[in-house]
Amino acid sequence: MTLSTSTKPLILLRAEYKPNEHRTPLTPSHLSSLTHKYNFIVETSQERIFSDKEYENAGAKIVNQGEWLHFCERYDKDGTGYVLGLKELPEPKEVMQCEIKDESKKIPIETPFAVRHRHIMFAHCYKYQNDWKSTMQRFKEGNAELLDLEFLQWDNGRRVAAFGRAAGFAGMAVGMLGYVAQQQQLEKNPQAQNVNLQLDWYRNNADLVNLVKKQLATLKEQPVVLVLGALGRCGGGAVQFAREAGLPEEKVIQWDLEETKVGGPFLELLLKPHILVNCIYVNGKIPPFIDQELLSQVDSRKERRLSVFVDVSCEMSQNNPFPINNKITTFPDPLRRLVQPLEGVPPLDCCAIDHLPAMIPRQSSEDFSQDLYETLARLGDADTTRELDQLEKLAKETDENDPEMDEKKHLRVWYRAKALFQKKLRELEESQ
Ligand SMILES: NC(=O)c1ccc[n+]([C@@H]2O[C@H](COP(=O)([O-])OP(=O)(O)OC[C@H]3O[C@@H](n4cnc5c(N)ncnc54)[C@H](O)[C@@H]3O)[C@@H](O)[C@H]2O)c1
Repeated sequence: MTLSTSTKPLILLRAEYKPNEHRTPLTPSHLSSLTHKYNFIVETSQERIFSDKEYENAGAKIVNQGEWLHFCERYDKDGTGYVLGLKELPEPKEVMQCEIKDESKKIPIETPFAVRHRHIMFAHCYKYQNDWKSTMQRFKEGNAELLDLEFLQWDNGRRVAAFGRAAGFAGMAVGMLGYVAQQQQLEKNPQAQNVNLQLDWYRNNADLVNLVKKQLATLKEQPVVLVLGALGRCGGGAVQFAREAGLPEEKVIQWDLEETKVGGPFLELLLKPHILVNCIYVNGKIPPFIDQELLSQVDSRKERRLSVFVDVSCEMSQNNPFPINNKITTFPDPLRRLVQPLEGVPPLDCCAIDHLPAMIPRQSSEDFSQDLYETLARLGDADTTRELDQLEKLAKETDENDPEMDEKKHLRVWYRAKALFQKKLRELEESQ
């Protein structure tokens, strides 16, 4: 079956492979509004917050999971199409349990090392993350292309689409749930080594807010929260959640660039809040905000108030401004104990889940898809050149007198994304 034609490129919306991932970058209603530009194939998924039927009604053809592995041979013979997804592809040799369309069974498929085709997704390999070389190598070996969703940026550097608001919203919720669970456990069993926190996902935001409100009501005193990067998307979501959960304004401390301009480490972060939610966007090395030395000093003086640290930013690269934690946590095991409680010193638990918006998948998918779809509409018009010089030139080309100048901003987003991929390939080659 070849769905792609010379006039309409093909987009395959693949299933997600991370557990508890119910989000999608493209909702059925936005897909429907793009059918004049593209043909769509959607991999079946029981996990996705929108049903197969909704996508089918919107104009997509539903196929089995794992079909992205055969995208070129089976569907996109002219090579103009793209595979659209959200999170990382399965690891090489990982056996995916793939759902079969219209059947309640799954079949195992092993993932190859080389990634083929052109992918739009979050690959988390452009900021020298621990396994960036092997991820890039997979794309190189398969002669594939990666247009990373994190690096689709407008001319001013702002991201086109991000899950920020939902991440901060959910991050503050987890922080508060973790704090309540911690307090309850300290009362019942002060010797316990870990907090047992069960997290779920919520069909809508109000259910989550109501749950947290009920939990907070069991405390004798409401916690103080501090949001770092409060003026950004994630930070805004975190502040919004704290307000919706009923915390008074004086208990919601907001810091952004102004408050941190003197440079870290910052003693106040350990002394003022019970819950710290880090939402800053780091794009280079900065002095640490809390390091082990500061933490140990404060604990030896029994001064620390902070007992739950939620690292929404999850910057686990060499630029991590919170070197006290360098591990991601997960929905089944959300809190990692950094410091055990001692006489006069509270425990310190850290949550660093890197897909927090998955807790509120409908709202976060709708927001993301709303931000992305207009730019996605222009992807098919982006030049397919792979020459870095040419791509960089196109990415900057602006002409005040061009009547299509505004429209072309979407094209420039794609040219920049393509140029960045070429640059990263070169960096990989140079590092070998
Ligand atoms: N954990 C998750 O599930 C998840 C989901 C989405 C985004 N994120 C991450 O969250 C981070 C923030 O994303 P965003 O979309 O909100 O970014 P953003 O650009 O909208 O906001 C970042 C904010 O941080 C502030 N900031 C930057 N450096 C600072 C500093 N040194 N001191 C104080 N404030 C500083 C900026 O002024 C800005 O207000 C990113 O690293 C992103 O990858 C995580």
